[in-house]
Amino acid sequence: MGQQNSQTVSSIDLAEITSSIKKELKHSESSSEPSDSMGASTPSEGFMYTGINGFDKLLKKGIPTGLNVLIEGNAGSGKTIFALQLLFHHANKGKKCLYISYEESVERLIQHMKDFGWDPDPLIKNGTLTIKRYLTSDIYYEQDQSREGGVQAMMARDSDHMMLDLEPFIIGSDGFNPDITVIDSLTAISSTFLGKDRHYRFYLERLFRFLENLECTTFLITEPTTNMLGSQMQTSCERFLADGIIALYNARRGAIREHGVEILKLRGAPHEKKIAALKITNEGIQVFPEQEVFGDVDS
Ligand SMILES: Nc1ncnc2c1ncn2[C@@H]1O[C@H](COP(=O)(O)OP(=O)(O)OP(=O)(O)O)[C@@H](O)[C@H]1O
Ligand SMILES: [Mg+2]
Repeated sequence: MGQQNSQTVSSIDLAEITSSIKKELKHSESSSEPSDSMGASTPSEGFMYTGINGFDKLLKKGIPTGLNVLIEGNAGSGKTIFALQLLFHHANKGKKCLYISYEESVERLIQHMKDFGWDPDPLIKNGTLTIKRYLTSDIYYEQDQSREGGVQAMMARDSDHMMLDLEPFIIGSDGFNPDITVIDSLTAISSTFLGKDRHYRFYLERLFRFLENLECTTFLITEPTTNMLGSQMQTSCERFLADGIIALYNARRGAIREHGVEILKLRGAPHEKKIAALKITNEGIQVFPEQEVFGDVDS
């Protein structure tokens, strides 16, 4: 009887101790990363966080500013929402944000943001957020030129409509000078160069050089050329040129589709190497850094 009592007492004590250790750990975790009102951490100098709930836990210090980072994923994996959520977060903090769309119209993107409760109107009005739309037909490309002539003309400084239009807008005397730029998407741009891989590579190299000169952090949205889970990925020139790759997954498991996110590479910064669960809700993207998905699939 006496023995039973002491066992009960010691098991209660253990439960209490475990619970107080957990509380202590939770407290020290949250106090080591100061959060703002949206739950995002404050990054070290020269780094930025995305402001996407849970995702920043996958980054140890943040994303080094000034990098070109791919947001890669299949159709419907959440690339556009990820980018809009990131820009809304930073424009709200006073950063200058530019969204270049080759896919959806400005009106649709604005509506998209409003559907998630992110009102872009005041940000557009106060000049922290700009959304510009281009058509892929705006990309200068001489279809009928002889092989080298077309490339040479395209490589010449004044040859492309998008860069010709962006350069004075961004760099000009009262230039917009964005801190963060999104390009949605490289896949749309590449469709202009169908069957002309070499020309596309030239164009991309030029675009990346242009972005490097801007000294802003750029997120370039792209769809992978092959199935991203369960088969070998081809190394595309985008992946080679980019400093970082954030991969969004939208894979079928039985009768349901699961979303996931992974940081595949990030030059100059440590990061978690796992696929974390991701959910898209009425409030946008939520990442669950502790919840791994697709553990049984090799990519
Ligand atoms: N309010 C919402 N609640 C839950 N899921 C949503 C909501 N709104 C959109 N989604 C999901 O998000 C997906 C679209 O996300 P998004 O437009 O960012 O994808 P994407 O990767 O940019 O696709 P695409 O390659 O076609 O441009 C939809 O297919 C839908 O599954
Ligand atoms: Mg999209």
